[in-house]
Amino acid sequence: MSDKWKTEELHVGMTSEATFWANPVAESKFRYRATHLDGRRSPKVVLCDDTRVRPGVPCQVRVTAIRKPQRNDRGSIEVEFLRLLDFKLDGVYLDPLVARKLQVLLESGLNILLDGPQGCGKTVTARSIAETLGLEFVFFNCGAVVDASDFFATIQVRASESGQPVTDFTKTDVLIALEQAAAEPRRRFLVFLDEFNRCQENARNALMPALDSTRKVFHPIENNFLPIADNVQFIAAVNRGGEFSATFGIDAAQLDRFAPLQMDYPPAAEEVKLLAQRHPELGTRLLSRIVDLANRVRRSPDIPGGLSVRATDEVCVYLKHPLFADEAHQQLLEVLKSSFCGRFPGRWDDLTSDAGAVWSLISSERQPE
Ligand SMILES: Nc1ncnc2c1ncn2[C@@H]1O[C@H](COP(=O)(O)OP(=O)(O)O)[C@@H](O)[C@H]1O
Ligand SMILES: [Mg+2]
Repeated sequence: MSDKWKTEELHVGMTSEATFWANPVAESKFRYRATHLDGRRSPKVVLCDDTRVRPGVPCQVRVTAIRKPQRNDRGSIEVEFLRLLDFKLDGVYLDPLVARKLQVLLESGLNILLDGPQGCGKTVTARSIAETLGLEFVFFNCGAVVDASDFFATIQVRASESGQPVTDFTKTDVLIALEQAAAEPRRRFLVFLDEFNRCQENARNALMPALDSTRKVFHPIENNFLPIADNVQFIAAVNRGGEFSATFGIDAAQLDRFAPLQMDYPPAAEEVKLLAQRHPELGTRLLSRIVDLANRVRRSPDIPGGLSVRATDEVCVYLKHPLFADEAHQQLLEVLKSSFCGRFPGRWDDLTSDAGAVWSLISSERQPE
């Protein structure tokens, strides 16, 4: 199946899922416009004028007319609204309350700050929001940002023909997206600022006008201000240390530009479900045991930092491999030495280190009969 519908495949009366946004064509009699039907690109714009449509929330629609089916470059598909669908993300567990809050924030276009421990799903959530809502995803890791301009350009020094050093500016993906968004209002972007707390404070300050009502940034290559259009949604993510009291080093004024949303590891049953989908070879009992051990580590007051879902996933990758398939208990412990203990400072056999604390938690587990 191709990513794009052919006009012949569509017919009046068919029902489909679509996510609408305000129609940028002001003179159109249709308030809402979508580009995809059932996740596949539509050959013509999909139009709807029902006031029950909520921008950004998927809904069920029925095709009522296909205009100019012969033309590749024109025409439209008119649909009637049937009902709103819940905001859900494929293959990602989201706490129902967080999902509802996210839906409101995304509709309002507020900047969102996802705050949660390492590996609880902040990045997959942002990525799948983009996929679900048809936004172009721009991933930017702030960990390497030292200087204000690093968000927008990287500087490369090379030798010119005369041997003199010349400085080249290369645009970052963020700058490219902001330029494209300004030039093409029909495209929509989600700029994801990962590890937002890890960049230099003063650099982060330079981003603030982008995030408040000013909505503009200084373009370091063209030396002018670039306005940020409404078709750019910002989501930032921060990892807190283990202690929830820990600050993440973002000052109150910066934090105030975001609507913060707290995330946490999925409940055990949901994490088991996620793992079972990915590793159907492993039984639910074994998966529950792995998740239970992870949750003990996550909840332990003596062990700072989180334990990513990536860690439980990695344990499954080992255990379903024939090389690790027998002697289940001993094998599991060996795997956990690297997949769990190995994610913490120190060594598993050094009880004074965090890795050692994880080991003593794991190895004290009563082995199931
Ligand atoms: N809530 C979740 N739903 C689905 N997968 C998850 C979830 N949380 C974590 N994962 C899995 O764990 C990995 C790490 O998640 P990620 O989104 O990178 O975490 P974070 O950005 O919070 O550090 C992902 O690749 C994904 O496979
Ligand atoms: Mg992440």
